[in-house]
Amino acid sequence: MTATANDIDWWRDAVVYQVYIRSFADGNGDGVGDIAGLRGKLGHLARLGVDAIWINPWYPSPLADGGYDVADYRAINPAFGDTAQAEALLREAHERGIKVLLDIVPNHHSDEHEWFQAALRAAPGSPERERYVFRDGRGPDGAQPPNNWESMFGGPAWERVPDGQWYLHLFDVKQPDVNWNSAEVRDDFETTLRFWFDRGVDGFRIDVANSMIKQDGLPDVVEGVNDEQDGNHPYLDRDEVHDIYRSWRRIADSYDPPKVYVAEAWVPDPERLARYLRPDELQTAFSFNFLRAAWLAPDLKENITEAIAENDAVGAPATWVLSNHDVARHVSRLARKPESGRGYQLDDLLDLPADLDLGLRRARAATLLMLALPGTAYLYQGEELGLPEAENIPTDQLDDPTWVLSGHTKRGRDGCRVPLPWSGSSPPYGFGGSSWLPQPPEFAACVADTLDADPESILHLYRDALMLRKAHPALGGGELTWKDSPEGTLAFTREPGFTALVNVSSAPVSLPEDAEVMLTSGPLTRYGAVPADTTVWLRHA
Ligand code: GLC
Repeated sequence: MTATANDIDWWRDAVVYQVYIRSFADGNGDGVGDIAGLRGKLGHLARLGVDAIWINPWYPSPLADGGYDVADYRAINPAFGDTAQAEALLREAHERGIKVLLDIVPNHHSDEHEWFQAALRAAPGSPERERYVFRDGRGPDGAQPPNNWESMFGGPAWERVPDGQWYLHLFDVKQPDVNWNSAEVRDDFETTLRFWFDRGVDGFRIDVANSMIKQDGLPDVVEGVNDEQDGNHPYLDRDEVHDIYRSWRRIADSYDPPKVYVAEAWVPDPERLARYLRPDELQTAFSFNFLRAAWLAPDLKENITEAIAENDAVGAPATWVLSNHDVARHVSRLARKPESGRGYQLDDLLDLPADLDLGLRRARAATLLMLALPGTAYLYQGEELGLPEAENIPTDQLDDPTWVLSGHTKRGRDGCRVPLPWSGSSPPYGFGGSSWLPQPPEFAACVADTLDADPESILHLYRDALMLRKAHPALGGGELTWKDSPEGTLAFTREPGFTALVNVSSAPVSLPEDAEVMLTSGPLTRYGAVPADTTVWLRHA
C-alpha cells in the first residue's frame, strides 16, 4: 500500500500527547503506570482528539533517571509490560488513528547496560571501554577528574572506577555517556531505530539531541568563552552532530510512510536550532523558547515570530509545547508574576507567591494561543485536566536524581510527574494502585471524570479546541499574520477567516468589529469584552 500525502505529512500540524508512562495509568494495581493502563485510556486520548502519542522511555532500566537510563533499547521494562503488550498497544492506537512515537536516548546508556558492565570488567584501552568516554585523571596520581565538566544534575561529570580511570556522565553517575566516534555505537543505535520502526512505531523523540558529540581532547569548559551554544562549546550543539541525523533521516525515509523525529535540543538560538531541521535532517524540534517566554505580549510575540521565521527558512514547521516531564507544570509557572524573569523549573519558582486560579486562567489562554499557531503542538499528560505542579512532595519521597546530586538543595522534577487523577474523590483517584508519588490536595479539583461531566471544564476546552483545529481550514499548517492590537495583547489572523486575540494585559479589551466568537478560553465580560488572561478564537469575513 502506498502512503498518501496526508500520511506522509501528518507531523507538520499534528497534536501529540506526551505519555509519561510511569504516571499515566496503572493497569495492574502496583502503583506504577504501565502499558495495560495506557491501553485502557486510549478512549480518553481519542476523545481528546490527539493525532499521536509520545511515550517516555519504556525500556528495561534501573530507573535512576526515570527510565532515561536505558539498560536494553530493544525490550520493555517488566514494570511496564512486555513485548506482546507493546505490540497490542501499537495495534490499538493505530486502529484509533493515533500514531505512536517512542523516546530514544542516544547520549548515554544505563550503567547496567551489558556494554557498560563489560567495559567495567575490561582493561583501560580495551575495545569495550572505547564505547564510552573513559580517560585517565589529572594530577600526579590521576586523582583529579580529566576536565572540569559538570553533570547537568550537579557535581562533577566524571566518576572514577577501581582501576583508576574515570568515565564521563553528563547526567547521573548511572548514565555513562557513550562514544559517538565509535562505529559500533552508531550502528547499534541505528539497529534500535529499525527494530522499533519495523514493529510499526511511527517515530522517535530524540533525547538531548544536541549533546552527543564531544570536542576532541575534551577541553575544559571556559567561563566567558563557552557560555553560548555557538558551535564552540566542548559538548553542546557541536556541528558534527548533524551527520548523525543525516544518517538517521535516511533510515526514516526508507519506510513508507516515512518515519518522523522530534528533537529535544535546548538550543536557545533559533537559527542554530533550525539547523537540526534542514531538509536532510530531522523533521521537527521543540521550540522551547516559547515554553520559556514570560507571560507578556512582547516576549510571546518575539519568540513565536523568531521560531516561525527560522524554521520557515529550512522548510520545517515550528513545534510548540508548554509543559513536559522536565519543567514545572505551566499552571504553576503562570500562577507567578510574569515579570519575575525566573526560570521554568520548580526550584526557580518555589519562593514566589502563587495564585493557582490565575495560573489556570492563563493556562487556558496559553493553550488556545498555542493551538492557533501554525505548526505542530505537544501536550503533556494532565494539562488537559489543568493539573498544577505538586510543590510539596515530602523530600524522602523524591525520586529525581537532582535532589541527591544537588546536595539536597533542589527538589527537581518530580512535581510534574505525579500520577494522574482519573476518577473518585480521594487519592489515588482511580490511577490504579496507591500512586508511587503522592498526589497533592489540588488534584481533587482536577479529576478526569468530574471534568468530563462539566462542559465548562478545561478538559472540554481542550476537546473543543482540538476538534475545531482539525475542522477549520485555516488552522494547523500555514501562515500567520500579526495584526495591530491594544498594548499587552496579541492578535493574528490565519486565512481563511480566522483571528486569534490573546489578552495578556491586566484589563479587558474589546472584540474587533464584525468578529464572531468561535471559542474562548474563559467567559467574556458582561459587555462582551475579552478579560485579562483570556484568548478568543474568532471568525472574520
Ligand atoms: C532529557 C530528558 C530528561 C533526562 C535527560 C537525561 O532532558 O527529558 O528527563 O533526565 O534528558 O536523559
